Amino acid sequence: MKINRLAVTGFRNYEWETIDFGSGTNVIYGSNAQGKTNLIEAVYLLAYGRSFRTRFDRELVHFQYSSSDILADITSYDREQTVNIQIRPGAAKKILVNGVKKTANELSRTLNVVLFCPDDLNLIKDGAAVRRRLLDTAIGQIRPQYNEILSEFNRLFEHKTRILKDWREKPSLLETLDEFSDGLCRCSAKLIRYRAAYTARLQEASIPVHREFSGSGEELGILYKTVSTVSNPFASEKEIYYELCDHQESHRRAEIESGQCLTGAHKDDLDISINGNAARNFASQGQSRTAALSIKLAEREILLKETGEYPILLLDDVLSELDGKRQEFVLNRIGGGQTLITCCEDEGISGRTGGKVIFVEQGRVK
Ligand SMILES: Nc1ncnc2c1ncn2[C@@H]1O[C@H](COP(=O)(O)OP(=O)(O)OP(=O)(O)O)[C@@H](O)[C@H]1O
Ligand SMILES: [Mg+2]
Repeated sequence: MKINRLAVTGFRNYEWETIDFGSGTNVIYGSNAQGKTNLIEAVYLLAYGRSFRTRFDRELVHFQYSSSDILADITSYDREQTVNIQIRPGAAKKILVNGVKKTANELSRTLNVVLFCPDDLNLIKDGAAVRRRLLDTAIGQIRPQYNEILSEFNRLFEHKTRILKDWREKPSLLETLDEFSDGLCRCSAKLIRYRAAYTARLQEASIPVHREFSGSGEELGILYKTVSTVSNPFASEKEIYYELCDHQESHRRAEIESGQCLTGAHKDDLDISINGNAARNFASQGQSRTAALSIKLAEREILLKETGEYPILLLDDVLSELDGKRQEFVLNRIGGGQTLITCCEDEGISGRTGGKVIFVEQGRVK
């Protein structure tokens, strides 16, 4: 998949600009705060229909503009396509693929991107939320229906949490608690099956990348961890649902007393290990970066298998965070697809990749 041309109007610090990308590596460079990440954000938006930096679309609109327009000519699934996103604060965001209206979820059927930013380097050491986010974004790209289940789960979760927090002031709220708990068990059972299946693929795809990357016999392990009563996350939805209900039953009282939701897929995590030792506790800084990079590159391989084309790889500010050996590994590994790399100085990266160089200054591209 490739983005050939991007035109933005009133987007972040861009008034209007058109950028032609090369089909291989594109190095986007310039000083701080000139608009490099904003370009990455625009491309991300074309694939996910939302930003990775904010939940509020109005923040994407240029301070002096009343609306924002992103238009792209892309090549995907062997044909030329156009994706257009129009953001008008106060109105629903409009998404058009080849002139036909689509939902944000449907975008993943047209364009896929994998984003890699410095936060991802902390994938191993940070809290479980970052690893869940990795699962959620990656699965959503290959299984659009997953996003719908996740939205429903989040809606029920917020509602149930509100009941658990407010019931002392308004005891009648407890009458609907069991209904929400049941809905959460049903949604969790679905999420768990998707997550278990994706984790198995991620493990399989990242082992060879990691072995090559670490240059030794180090063995990366990725194991999916969910609610304790679930004996087999690959079992049928019904079996998982019953096991979740057991957990729910035994925690009902504790939930009411603590005012917190104690059961469900919102606490899931990935157990990442190197040679059998928990990476979170034992891996060195270098080892955890190597593992994180391997996992992100594996995500790209899975998309290739799934769609037959490499997704666009977006590397925002990540190369400058890596030492020479790791930079070299990433640059050697990303052939075959289109990559957009941002960095503050060109740092000789374009020389090493032979790609296109794009200079950004104050919301203009040269
Ligand atoms: N809605 C907006 N309207 C106008 N300007 C905005 C808007 N949102 C962000 N900006 C500005 O865009 C500028 C560039 O942001 P961006 O994150 O792309 O910088 P960058 O080139 O990636 O910098 P760095 O090297 O520090 O990461 C910032 O100065 C920011 O204040
Ligand atoms: Mg930036």
